[in-house]
Amino acid sequence: MKIPYVNIANQNNKISKQLTSIFKNILDTGEYVGGKEIQKFERNIAKYCNSKYAVALNSGTDALTFALSVCGVRRGDEVITTPNSFIASTAVIVHLGAKPVFVDVLSNQNIDTAKIEKAITKKTKCIMPVHLTGRMSEMDKIMKIARKYNLKVIEDAAQAIGSKYKNKYSGTFGDIGCFSAHPLKNLNAIGDSGYLVTNNKKYYNKIKDLSNHGMTNRDRVKSFGYVSRMDNLHAAILNFKLKNLNNVISKRRSNFAFYKKNLSKKVYFPTESKHEFNTYHTFVIQVENRDELKKYLLKNKIMTSIHYPVPIHLQPASKRLGYKKGDFPITEYQSKKILTLPIHQDLKRNDILRVCKIINKFVGK
Ligand SMILES: Cc1ncc(COP(=O)(O)O)c(C=O)c1O
Repeated sequence: MKIPYVNIANQNNKISKQLTSIFKNILDTGEYVGGKEIQKFERNIAKYCNSKYAVALNSGTDALTFALSVCGVRRGDEVITTPNSFIASTAVIVHLGAKPVFVDVLSNQNIDTAKIEKAITKKTKCIMPVHLTGRMSEMDKIMKIARKYNLKVIEDAAQAIGSKYKNKYSGTFGDIGCFSAHPLKNLNAIGDSGYLVTNNKKYYNKIKDLSNHGMTNRDRVKSFGYVSRMDNLHAAILNFKLKNLNNVISKRRSNFAFYKKNLSKKVYFPTESKHEFNTYHTFVIQVENRDELKKYLLKNKIMTSIHYPVPIHLQPASKRLGYKKGDFPITEYQSKKILTLPIHQDLKRNDILRVCKIINKFVGK
């Protein structure tokens, strides 16, 4: 039997009755763009994250763009972030005319906070940590540096809804926290969607307007904006799925614990420190002969993935940024060792045991 890396269709098929009813309700209201479900989702997600405000948007990418923009990131500014993220984290900085200044990562794939101060220049406007895999960056240290140098902090929490650091939710440490509700995420829509949270009313109002043509109301446009609203249908689906998010997280956490128990000690993966509450958007191991192991698993009908095989500074698109091979040795090292194993909420114990058995055999117990 095949073990898929993830099975989104199966996830949604299990709730197809409820989803169909949501679809019919929205169809009947005629409220497709804008609507009550959006307002409800914004209230729900702000409450879930323990934040004052939330804005529902069409993607995590736009959430990051608006966040940087309202925090004043402009042409010529610098934004500190990591080179081992999904490409969107860097793309949003470039699109605003600013320069991504990369800082290498720790063995757990998150930003190495000890290297941040060295990367700060007169042009630095903002630090943008990425909470990769659903594990939060060391936010207390990042906030301390940001306060010392008067920098804004935007959390790329696209992969980390519900994650906590020192018992505080992802997205609520910095000025704005940005999330994706892409179908692969733990809280997922049936298409592109995203959202952000903030405690700053000014940012909230600005982003609400910006995402809706810059209109403060139907007849007043304060500044030229964009069309980046979450659809009412997606909001309704997310309102429904949000009720089950903690359950999804707890299943993924328990899958991690089971992997931890059964994987050979020869396989490295970062565990959870006492400050962390990880939500396992992905589960990434680091192994020698990664490509051979990936093939071996595939031969045994086990699907895996790699997040991400090419560091952002080595992507063709980054050529003009002036980075070169060797600039971020940990990221580059990890890009050759990392392998993402299935950890989704529908995985069975036997599936995990089978994955572990194959991997343990490969690494020699
Ligand atoms: C770390 C990270 N940042 C940003 C994004 C962008 O989110 P979206 O796909 O919703 O635009 C993603 C989504 O995959 C991501 O994983």
